[in-house]
Amino acid sequence: MKNLKLWEEYTRESLHLSILLTGGIGYIGSHAAASLIEAGYDVVLFDNLSNSDASVHNRLEKITNKKISFVEGDIRDFELISKTLNQYKIEAVMHFAGLKAVGESVQNPLRYYDNNVGGSMSLIRAMQENNIKKIVFSSSATVYGVPQYLPIDESHPLSAINPYGRTKIYIEEILADLAISDPDWKIMSLRYFNPIGAHDSGLIGESPKAVPNNLMPYIIKVAKGELAKVNVYGDDYQTPDGTGVRDYIHVMDLVEGHMAALLFLNNHSGFHAINLGTGNGYSVKEIIDTFSKVTHTKVPYEIVGRRDGDVAISYASVDHAKKLLGWQAKRDLKEMCLSAWKVMSSSK
Ligand SMILES: NC(=O)c1ccc[n+]([C@@H]2O[C@H](COP(=O)([O-])OP(=O)(O)OC[C@H]3O[C@@H](n4cnc5c(N)ncnc54)[C@H](O)[C@@H]3O)[C@@H](O)[C@H]2O)c1
Repeated sequence: MKNLKLWEEYTRESLHLSILLTGGIGYIGSHAAASLIEAGYDVVLFDNLSNSDASVHNRLEKITNKKISFVEGDIRDFELISKTLNQYKIEAVMHFAGLKAVGESVQNPLRYYDNNVGGSMSLIRAMQENNIKKIVFSSSATVYGVPQYLPIDESHPLSAINPYGRTKIYIEEILADLAISDPDWKIMSLRYFNPIGAHDSGLIGESPKAVPNNLMPYIIKVAKGELAKVNVYGDDYQTPDGTGVRDYIHVMDLVEGHMAALLFLNNHSGFHAINLGTGNGYSVKEIIDTFSKVTHTKVPYEIVGRRDGDVAISYASVDHAKKLLGWQAKRDLKEMCLSAWKVMSSSK
């Protein structure tokens, strides 16, 4: 279900503004593209396809019934990103491009620093050079490290427990320094909790290239019989059923949060960081059970040992988002599971 009041505002304010979406072919970027276009924005997708498939571009054109500009390239390619910003007269950037596999970041930290931090530096420099000073950045709840209290609000101390998390903290700090140095910058860092689910059309969803790291695509592969079982990492946590509890948020709610952030930046300069979550926690078992029930599938799972670095419970304080953005998540767990299943059950 859409937040209709916010949508009225998005549509009124879009005025064919030109937005560049780095990582626009990826999971969250493609869903953002669909909603931005629906609201009347002009969107340019920029992606190196390192974790996505070019077919998403065609699917987006089908969903929106519009031709969508797509530049295949790497954000570390300063000349190309700068040329793209200029050529398409971009007014704001949503910066989704990045690598996001925690385990891989521990194995190969330099790849993560180069791609995520180096890539962001190149993008921001190109924006500065082209006098484009409005950006919404995909940060993560991982910047809070091990929660010291719950719900986690934006004043919670930042501390990374892996290189991936550290890249997000570094980028936030770079953006915050930039905002101090030049008051024209309007910067929103959105700290996502756990986005799941997919677009209603069933045409786009979360389809990582390798074996999925995230719970939902993994559950789906098991439900489809492509993987044998879900490994549940620990059932001896201090939670109602012993399994880890996380704040799962429907990707379409998350995307609406981005649109609200874009409007907020119309009237606010400086650096801002806001959580995007539902404020509710669901356990791993609850997700598996709800998924099985609503999709009528079997999802075998096995309890295995805890994973290093996993915490028992994490969920967001959403007060800041409500107050500053006038936004709040609307969709429930059933909608998250059903929408994810709709797209993934039909794809290979
Ligand atoms: N999905 C989550 O659970 C989650 C949670 C918190 C934060 N985030 C962040 O949100 C952003 C988007 O995540 P997603 O789930 O859509 O991931 P994704 O992998 O589906 O999308 C990222 C896209 O960026 C592209 N990309 C990566 N490096 C690039 C580069 N150097 N140049 C151009 N394109 C590049 C990839 O090909 C991919 O299409 C990422 O920055 C991620 O760290 C995601």
